[in-house]
Amino acid sequence: MADTVSVTRQDGVAVVWLDNPPVNALGHALRQPLHAMLEKLRADADTAAIVIACKGRTFVAGADISEFGQPPKAPSLPDVIALLESIGKPTVAAIHGNALGGGFELALGCHYRIAAPDARVGLPEVTLGLLPGAGGTVRLPRLVGAREALGVIVSGKPVNAEKALALGAIDAIAEGDLVAEAVSFARARAEGGGPHVPVLKREEKIEAARNDLDAFEETAKAATANARGLTAPLRCTEAVRNAILLEPSQALAREREMFVELRDGEESAALRHLFFAEREAVKVEGVGKDVAARPVRHVGIVGAGTMGGGIAMAFANGGMRVTVLEVGDEALQRGLGQIEKNYAGSVSRGSLSEKDKLARLARIRGTTDYTDMSDCDLIVEAVFEEMGVKRKVFEKLDEVARDGAVLASNTSYLDLDAIAAFTKRPSDVVGLHFFSPAHVMRLLEIVRGERTAPEVLATALSVAKAIGKTPVVVGVCDGFVGNRMLAARREENEALLLEGASPSSVDKAFTDFGWPMGPFQMVDLAGLDISWRHRQSQGLTAPVADSLCELGYFGQKTGRGFYRYDEGARKPVPDPFVEELIEAKSRELGIERRAIGAEEILERTMYPMINEGARILEEGIAARASDIDVVWVNGYGFPRGKGGPMFWARRHGIDKILARLEYWHGVTGKPVYRPARKLVEAAAAASW
Ligand code: 3HC
Ligand code: NAI
Repeated sequence: MADTVSVTRQDGVAVVWLDNPPVNALGHALRQPLHAMLEKLRADADTAAIVIACKGRTFVAGADISEFGQPPKAPSLPDVIALLESIGKPTVAAIHGNALGGGFELALGCHYRIAAPDARVGLPEVTLGLLPGAGGTVRLPRLVGAREALGVIVSGKPVNAEKALALGAIDAIAEGDLVAEAVSFARARAEGGGPHVPVLKREEKIEAARNDLDAFEETAKAATANARGLTAPLRCTEAVRNAILLEPSQALAREREMFVELRDGEESAALRHLFFAEREAVKVEGVGKDVAARPVRHVGIVGAGTMGGGIAMAFANGGMRVTVLEVGDEALQRGLGQIEKNYAGSVSRGSLSEKDKLARLARIRGTTDYTDMSDCDLIVEAVFEEMGVKRKVFEKLDEVARDGAVLASNTSYLDLDAIAAFTKRPSDVVGLHFFSPAHVMRLLEIVRGERTAPEVLATALSVAKAIGKTPVVVGVCDGFVGNRMLAARREENEALLLEGASPSSVDKAFTDFGWPMGPFQMVDLAGLDISWRHRQSQGLTAPVADSLCELGYFGQKTGRGFYRYDEGARKPVPDPFVEELIEAKSRELGIERRAIGAEEILERTMYPMINEGARILEEGIAARASDIDVVWVNGYGFPRGKGGPMFWARRHGIDKILARLEYWHGVTGKPVYRPARKLVEAAAAASW
């Protein structure tokens, strides 16, 4: 193995090279030789200045996250940075790629920072349920100001070089060779004689924050308004407040304590699980690195309704040319008009510039003529959810699409293999199940048909990455992973109402758990008519929901559903009429009502879902339990801080879940409670 740390010398400047692929994470294998090297250079009379630079595709992307569950090994990262900061000669970080987390903290331990024009710096620890634990919360406020630092730390979002320069987080952007410029910068500073003030000793911005604490508190309140029950954003704020109010050494000590507390807690374990789960999900059996994706530049979309429009925007936002096809001019104009309206909304909310809006719109064109699809590299069908309609579309696509084009369906429930069989090229057919709104939601279920070719899957994965989606490959079944598990809990939502719960007590149990909304708020938002139609097509009934639909109460869009909505408002207000209707239904069905607590609500909704997840694993519809977590967190609002249903089940105790499923199966006899074989095995192994 090559040395992780080496030195080259130019003009009395030592360049310390870090080389720990793939992202130069600061694991023990890097920290120890770096510490030793810095000690040596500190004492070396021939070294006038030091540059820290990285080999490979990036500067240091952080501490090594995979080490967090293990016993710590000295030297710690704060030790390395303290040593770096004790060096009296100028030190310069030469940043290319990403300087993130501990990587940026290492750079903050240098006197100066120079970045390549396309570099990014940031402190994303909060996204892992942590706070920056190697001085970031104490040093960054000294460099850029407390309120600005808070923005960077609580959002966890990296900033580009230009913004970093404007903030004062870096000293210069290199115009040519990064390391050569960092060396001459360091040389010039050494010749200038100093003093070279470590970031930790710079007090001006802290002084300013101390004199305007009210402004800081206001920023802190706004920054944590969306914390949604997560602890890390609150601790981040506390740490920056400490940086203002405490001595640097005390603030550092407290930062470390809070870091360790968070690192050893459930929230960070869950978020780290998701970090690795999302990266694992793209590793698909039979689709190795040797399988090349086909290039995709021009995307066709059939259907410009709710989904087609959003999907068109997702591809246009990713820089691709898009052709949208509709049945007739009127539907086409309606669809294109909605796209324009959505973009205009983003402009008025300030999340998109007018220039970018025009550029995106210019990439989308509409047609009613299939021959305009003939040079598309990928065509996504998003027409009505009816097999007959899908059949016509795929037969037509088979006629017009060029050889090698990937044909995709956005179907939610239908059999992809049957759809593929409408064409003479089933190996080019794949499911691309987007979630609504498709230009916003990150999840993409990629449905692998029986005959889908590996390079078609590789293309789907690569296209997902290009448009910023989080893909999970799933097999063919009714509802795939997400909707199938959702169906498992749906039946019990209604049963809970009939046995004594109210829509708001069920929803409250969900929001207390951390969901952004409960199932009844969700149905009201999506429209009760959609599930009504689905039930009718399956010959199913739901006494309460059916009655509401018969009254024309379809949810938010009609002002009434499981809740009442004041004119134009989105806030659900409990509706005594609905509660009476539920009680009447209970009487009618001879169901005795009783008090139902939050624990029972969770058991009877979450456990059947987890049980269905186990069946999905058993059938190989999902390759791993962590894939199911990625689906639920990114597509259905499962609280990120709990890691997804399968992770949560493991932490909570699969054996406990098994016992309660058996209990409820005994009480109700319902199939959703019958423990899956995989769940029984997992309970014994305490793992999926
Ligand atoms: N620790 C361990 N492994 C890491 C890692 C890290 N900090 N960052 C990335 N990796 C691994 C990934 O798991 C992946 O491994 P795999 O190939 O075996 O799946 C590999 O490196 C490549 O990562 P990506 O697929 O994510 O590569 P990209 O090029 O798409 O993205 C990146 C690069 C933007 C640097 C991205 O990897 C990233 O965001 N990394 C995490 C950054 C981060 O959160 N840093 C903070 C860590 S916590 C910390 O520093 C605590 C400190 O305050 C004390
Ligand atoms: P929609 O009813 O809003 O839009 C369908 C569009 O397809 C209409 O504009 C219609 O004019 C057009 N269309 C119908 N037949 C056509 C044909 N032969 N050629 C061209 N265009 C045709 O429906 P929505 O909600 O967009 O759903 C589309 C597909 O996406 C369905 O398969 C649905 O199951 C799936 N889906 C829907 C989600 C949702 O939340 N609405 C989520 C994920 C998938």
